[in-house]
Amino acid sequence: MKNIMVCGSGAMGSGIAQVSAAAGYTVYLWDLTTEIAQNSKNKIAAGLDRQIARGKMNEEAKEALLNNLIPCCDFAVAADVDLIMEAVPENIEIKKSTYAKLEQYCRPDAIIGTNTSYIPISTLAADLQHPERFLGMHFFNPVYAMKLLEIIRGEKTSDAAYEAVLAFAPTINKTPVTCQKEIPGFIVNRLNKAVQAEAMRLLHEGVASCEDIDTAAKLGLNYPKGPFEMMDGNLELTYTCLNLLVELTGEERFRPIPELEALIAEGNFGRRTGKGWYDYSEQ
Ligand SMILES: NC(=O)c1ccc[n+]([C@@H]2O[C@H](COP(=O)([O-])OP(=O)(O)OC[C@H]3O[C@@H](n4cnc5c(N)ncnc54)[C@H](O)[C@@H]3O)[C@@H](O)[C@H]2O)c1
Repeated sequence: MKNIMVCGSGAMGSGIAQVSAAAGYTVYLWDLTTEIAQNSKNKIAAGLDRQIARGKMNEEAKEALLNNLIPCCDFAVAADVDLIMEAVPENIEIKKSTYAKLEQYCRPDAIIGTNTSYIPISTLAADLQHPERFLGMHFFNPVYAMKLLEIIRGEKTSDAAYEAVLAFAPTINKTPVTCQKEIPGFIVNRLNKAVQAEAMRLLHEGVASCEDIDTAAKLGLNYPKGPFEMMDGNLELTYTCLNLLVELTGEERFRPIPELEALIAEGNFGRRTGKGWYDYSEQ
């Protein structure tokens, strides 16, 4: 693999583009307009400057990385790439229409990996001309710091596409794990949401307080953060993801408890709004 395209230059796309460019790949960073993609490149550059200030990078490496990053808004660049990593919003229609445009240009053997967090791979691959080239490539936020790449095979993913992505992961300094069945939420989000849902159930049943459940997880299981502290990072997203899991799996164990419904109804979305499971108004 030599040339890469990243579709969507938001939180995930810009991170994926950054680690790929750092590894020496030529990366076309695509978004709806070149201006959006260029702004994302500027943000990456600002992040690299912070790393230089901390002594973790030098000017030469920064320049090399930025030279490998080409902001663009034309799907035609897909003709020139071996791998496309898609990180557009988590919406089936937006993702599918993006693939339809990409397939007008890309080579039949170019691989398309989606960064979807929850949507089954075969659902997204349903209208592709070449579904065998398609699979899940699930990165984690922030991409430069998180070492994991979750690879998800769809029903029609070819061994060649899977093996190429498995071999690609260490070249961008990521450790791959393979999700053999495309269940909603894959491995990481299923584990995470199961723990969070169980923590909420313990709270709802009066077994323990948020504080004590978090302390139990940190000191008894060595979790770096408790499940309620984790959820407060973005309670609105937690709520959306739990409902999505109920919808996609039909399993009631993921249904948000009334206490979470109440927080969301009151606009308490966690740390950024000053209140979630905990009160941050004094901080
Ligand atoms: N944010 C996370 O923590 C995280 C973690 C893992 C996976 N993901 C997944 O990665 C994908 C991208 O998430 P993100 O957080 O980077 O999103 P984001 O909103 O930060 O970025 C999405 C980008 O897609 C662009 N885009 C392209 N086509 C678009 C269209 N038709 N309509 C609207 N925007 C369009 C937007 O301009 C934007 O730059 C999603 O599938 C998400 O589930 C997110």
